[in-house]
Amino acid sequence: MTAPLLSVRGVSKRFGGLLAVNDVSFDMVPGELVSIIGPNGAGKTTLFNLLTGQLAPTAGAVVLDGHDISRLSPNRRARLGLGRTFQISQTLTSLTVIENVMVGAFLHRRGLRRAAERAEEVLHLVGLHDRAAIRAGTLTLSERRRLEVARALALEPRVVLLDEVMAGLNPTEVGEVVDLVERLHGEGHTFLVIEHNLKVVRRFARRVIVIERGAKLVEGTAEEVLSDPRVVEAYVGRKRAA
Ligand SMILES: Nc1ncnc2c1ncn2[C@@H]1O[C@H](COP(=O)(O)OP(=O)(O)OP(=O)(O)O)[C@@H](O)[C@H]1O
Ligand SMILES: [Mg+2]
Repeated sequence: MTAPLLSVRGVSKRFGGLLAVNDVSFDMVPGELVSIIGPNGAGKTTLFNLLTGQLAPTAGAVVLDGHDISRLSPNRRARLGLGRTFQISQTLTSLTVIENVMVGAFLHRRGLRRAAERAEEVLHLVGLHDRAAIRAGTLTLSERRRLEVARALALEPRVVLLDEVMAGLNPTEVGEVVDLVERLHGEGHTFLVIEHNLKVVRRFARRVIVIERGAKLVEGTAEEVLSDPRVVEAYVGRKRAA
């Protein structure tokens, strides 16, 4: 058995009376692509915040490569290998595309030239190299999403965490971002992906973790999970209540 790269051990997060994340555990081995799904407000982004350090867990531990990183700052965790995108865009719209990526690249590369080299490599990977010099604020939504993936990759992460990078894209654009993730995954990158679009989850068709009211409801292949009556209920029940 391959040793886990990321091990999430019984993490919880309480906000006052709300247990937003409730005793969630799972492991990821290097090279995996794992999807996290769940209704709105289920606690998916809060879980990411516990992994990457924007929030400290109320209980439990986040272990990267055998080291407990639960108490480290987001910056330290990024250095150790967790790169992420944010559901609310973090693009610096007044900077150019390449400058946005360089902000991430500085984490491991000292000096402007080295950071620029890394940023160029990453822009090639996501197909934005011809946009490098334009202001990030003028990108289309789909380009901006690829820029956000590029910023995460610039950190040279061991695990890339994507929080709903497909949201708001049309089906063609979704296809482009799916192709990008598949390609990077094929090159060996490890992904943990929060995804609302169940077609995308089916296309990834690998391990899926369902979060409902803060807790892990089920885990399995996309086919198993999406045909599980408890998952159907969690989605349909929510829609009915809405
Ligand atoms: N900083 C905070 N303080 C208080 N409550 C919070 C905070 N962050 C999130 N919550 C609450 O925790 C719950 C989980 O929110 P979270 O954003 O993690 O859900 P989500 O699964 O990412 O939802 P969505 O699919 O809409 O992005 C929600 O009830 C939310 O209002
Ligand atoms: Mg969210």
